[in-house]
Formats: sequence, structure tokens, C-alpha cells
Amino acid sequence: MVKICCLGAGYVGGPTMAIIALKCPAIEVVVVDISAARIAAWNSDQLPIYEPGLDEVVKSCRGKNLFFSSDVEKHVLEADIIFVSVNTPTKTRGLGAGKAADLTYWESAARMIADVSKSDKIVVEKSTVPVKTAEAIEKILTHNTKGINFQILSNPEFLAEGTAIQDLLNPDRVLIGGRQSPEGQKAVEALKAVYANWVPEDRIIATNLWSAELSKLAANAVLAQRISSVNAMSALCEATGADVTEVAYAVGKDSRIGPKFLNASVGFGGSCFQKDILNLIYICECNGLMEVANYWKGVIKINDYQKSRFVNRVVASMFNTVSGKKIAVLGFAFKKDTGDTRETPAIDVCKGLLGDKANISIYDPQVTEDQIQRDLSMNKFDWDHPPHLQPMSPSAIKQVSVVWDAYEATKDAHGVCILTEWDEFKTLDYQKIYDNMQKPAFIFDGRNIVDLEKLRKIGFIVYSIGKPLDPWVKDLPASA
Ligand code: NAD
Ligand code: UDX
Repeated sequence: MVKICCLGAGYVGGPTMAIIALKCPAIEVVVVDISAARIAAWNSDQLPIYEPGLDEVVKSCRGKNLFFSSDVEKHVLEADIIFVSVNTPTKTRGLGAGKAADLTYWESAARMIADVSKSDKIVVEKSTVPVKTAEAIEKILTHNTKGINFQILSNPEFLAEGTAIQDLLNPDRVLIGGRQSPEGQKAVEALKAVYANWVPEDRIIATNLWSAELSKLAANAVLAQRISSVNAMSALCEATGADVTEVAYAVGKDSRIGPKFLNASVGFGGSCFQKDILNLIYICECNGLMEVANYWKGVIKINDYQKSRFVNRVVASMFNTVSGKKIAVLGFAFKKDTGDTRETPAIDVCKGLLGDKANISIYDPQVTEDQIQRDLSMNKFDWDHPPHLQPMSPSAIKQVSVVWDAYEATKDAHGVCILTEWDEFKTLDYQKIYDNMQKPAFIFDGRNIVDLEKLRKIGFIVYSIGKPLDPWVKDLPASA
């Protein structure tokens, strides 16, 4: 029986290994983590992450060929293939701070693998890493070798949260990069054989190591660039009376462009896009490619602009101040169908509103009060560390309350900001919400999910990203 061990029981390691276990009954899969609490949660009825369909997959395999354990060294020792899916945060100090990837967790994983191993291993980079990381990892592994052969593969993960199970079951492609040597190619074939249990052969792409590593950063950069492109257009739509949804539809109908990832929003969030683009920028700078670095910086600049533009709209529309006013925030996760709040635009929007002394009442169907309070207090990039190494919860911000119902959040509010596109926000009883709000009642839709005309008929003043402006908003100074 082939044995697989995965270091890192997070958003990638957990679901990916669960699908491998589901599709490969002849393989034993053990997911290990340095966070005992995370492992305990994976072994409980309350999994540590919310992902549609994940519970069912875990329940059907756990205890059969899928295990979660804190005994990291034992399972590394026994494994034939070791996936490394640990955190690769943005560095906050020293060389490359604010851009470069911090490979502390990866390096310590590699050193541990080198120390513990007594047989040949295939070590698979699942984490997103800077191009050429495999070379460094190889050095760490081979310098400690006791005659053991380590083959490093790059097998980046392309799943998106909220659809992780579907993405893993039916991936657009599986990318495997390896050394061009016979041993390297043998390792590539071994990993291919795992995926071939459910992924059609023509979707499994083999490349060299550096292409695989760089393709992951490139894919995320291009996806984020599409969003920044449409978000940049949304500002122009507001200035000219065009409708960004109509523009995006018309643009996406070009078969060379395609319709996906053209939804204007309050900004992209999530643990990957910003971090990976910063990482790409740093690599470009290290290679002296300043123009290329600046090109990608633009994607992040527009994203930051989009978030601050949204806050400015809210404040400017509400008579240039939200001080002491109740603002309801509907949705805090970075997208629907996940409880993940890493780099969610809601953090920046809420901080902006708090900066103008608003009182905020937040409702998200999947995010806890503790998480929201921590997110609003944490320093930039501090979120991307193993759970037990993250900063303790500071004292709660008094101007922020978290409630478990959209009607409670909006009661007596002066304004409502929709920051996540949860389906349930489309079907709320907006007449009831309007009746219970202060007047004039404002809605700022950061996800373009509400029916503008319907809400305007009820009496709301509505702002929706990239849509023709409400006369009320239109008459405000252009700086908004
Ligand atoms: P995560 O924070 O959810 O999980 C990482 C886990 O690794 C944590 O539980 C941590 O305790 C554990 N860990 C850290 N060092 C360890 C060690 N030495 N041994 C064992 N466990 C260790 O992160 P994630 O979202 O799963 O992301 C993991 C990697 O995958 C990152 O490089 C990320 O950029 C990449 N990635 C993430 C996504 C996504 O959607 N979240 C998608 C593709 C790629
Ligand atoms: C992303 C990549 O899609 C995935 O391939 C990679 O493995 C990890 O990073 P994820 O961050 O989970 O996945 O979600 P994604 O669906 O890409 O959304 C990222 C952010 O962009 C979200 O905040 C989302 O709301 C936003 N978005 C997405 C838009 O604003 N407009 C769009 O059209 C699409």
C-alpha cells in the first residue's frame, strides 16, 4: 500500500487529502499538523473549515484510509510521498518585508523530513512558493541525506475556496513539475498515477520544476488582474453612466476573453491573490525586472483603490460623516460559501468606517464574533501563521458588534453595506429592513447582488459598484 503523508491540515491540505483518500482506496493518507487543536477539530464532528461537501467526504473516509494526526515524525517516517502544504506567509520583517514569501515553515518542514527519513521519499510542494524554491529544498534535503534519495516535485493547488470539493473532483488541470533526470521523471510518473485514479490523463500536465512553480503565481496574478481590470472599469462606469455588468457581459462574450472572473466587486480578498502577487513582484525585483514588477503592482493598487473608493462613497453619501451612526455590514467572509476571512475586503472597509467613527453591526452566516474581532485588530499579514502562533485575541473593539441575523444587524441602522455575496442576502425582506432603519436609508452593495430598481422603489438610496449612480450619490463631489 502506498502511504501518503501531508504536512499542513489547512484549507488546502485537508480537502485535497480527503479527495485523494476518497478516490484512491488503496492509498493510506495521513494529514499531520503542528497545531494539535486543528488536528483535534479534523477528528471531531465540527471540522476546522467550512467547505460545501467536505463533511461528507471526510466522514466517508476518516478512520478507513484517511487519518489526521499530530504525530508528525512517525507519519513522515512511514510515508512514500510527502505533500508539504504549510503556510507561506508574506515576510513582515527584514529582507523583502511586505513582499517576499516567508519560507520559515517550509524550511523547518524540510529539515524535519531530512532528519526523520530512513527511506527514499518523494517530497511534493503543495504550498504556493517562489519559483526556484525546490532548489533550496533540495539542498536542505540532500545535505542531510544518509544515502536516501529525495525527489522534489512541484504540484501547485488551484482549488478555490467555497468550491474546493468540486474543483478537486474535476480539476481543469493538475500540474506536476519535476527534474528532467530519470529519477525525477519516475517521481513525476508516481504522482501522476495517484491523480490518474480520477483525473483524465490529458488534464495532467508535466513540466519542469520552475515552470510548475511559476505557473501557480502566474495563474493567480492573471485571475486577480481580470478583477482589477473590471474594477478599474467600474469607476469609469460610475463616472460616465455606463453599467459595469453590461460592459463585463459584452466584453466576456468575446470568446478570446470569456465570461469568468469579470464580476466587479468591492475588491478581491482571500489568502492567495495579494500574497502571491507580492511574491511575484519581489521575484521580478530580485531579477532586475522593475517594469514587470510595476505592472503587477498596479493590480494591487487598483484593489486598494476599490476598497477605499467604496468607503469614501459610504461616508460622502451619508452627509460626509458616519460618526456615531449605525452601519450594518452584511457579509464578512472574503467570498460566499466559506467562513474564511483572510484578506477579506470587509476588514479594510470596516477599518475605514471605524476610522470615521461609525458603529458597526456585522452579520455573516459563517464567521464568528471572535474571528471578526481578531481580524479587525490584527496587523497586516499576521493572519498567515499556524493557528497556535497567531496573536491572542485582544480586547474587543467596542464600536463593533456581531449578530446572528441580518434583520438584527440592520435594525435602526443608517446604512447597510453588503460585502459578501451570500445567496441569502438576495432574498432578504428589504421592505422590512427599510421599515426598521433610520431615514434616509442607504444601501451600499459591494457585490452587485441587489435589485436596484426594487430597492429604490421601496425608498432606499442605493449605491452599487459600477452602476449608474442614484441621483442622491451623483450630486456629491467627484472626489467620492
Ligand atoms: P492554512 O493556514 O489553512 O494551513 C497551513 C497549515 O500548516 C496550518 O494548519 C499550520 O499549522 C500547518 N503547519 C505549518 N508548519 C507546519 C509544519 N512544519 N508541519 C506541519 N504542519 C505545519 O493554509 P492553506 O490555506 O491551507 O495554504 C497552504 C498553502 O497552500 C499556502 O502556501 C497557500 O498559499 C497555498 N494555497 C492556498 C490555497 C487556498 O485557497 N487557501 C489555494 C492554493 C494554494
Ligand atoms: C483563488 C484562485 O481562484 C484559486 O485558483 C487559487 O488556488 C487560490 O486563490 P480563492 O481565493 O479561494 O481562489 O477564491 P476566488 O474565487 O478566486 O476569489 C478570490 C477573490 O476575488 C474573492 O474575494 C472574490 O469575491 C473575488 N472575485 C472573484 C471578484 O471580486 N470578482 C470575480 O469575478 C471573481
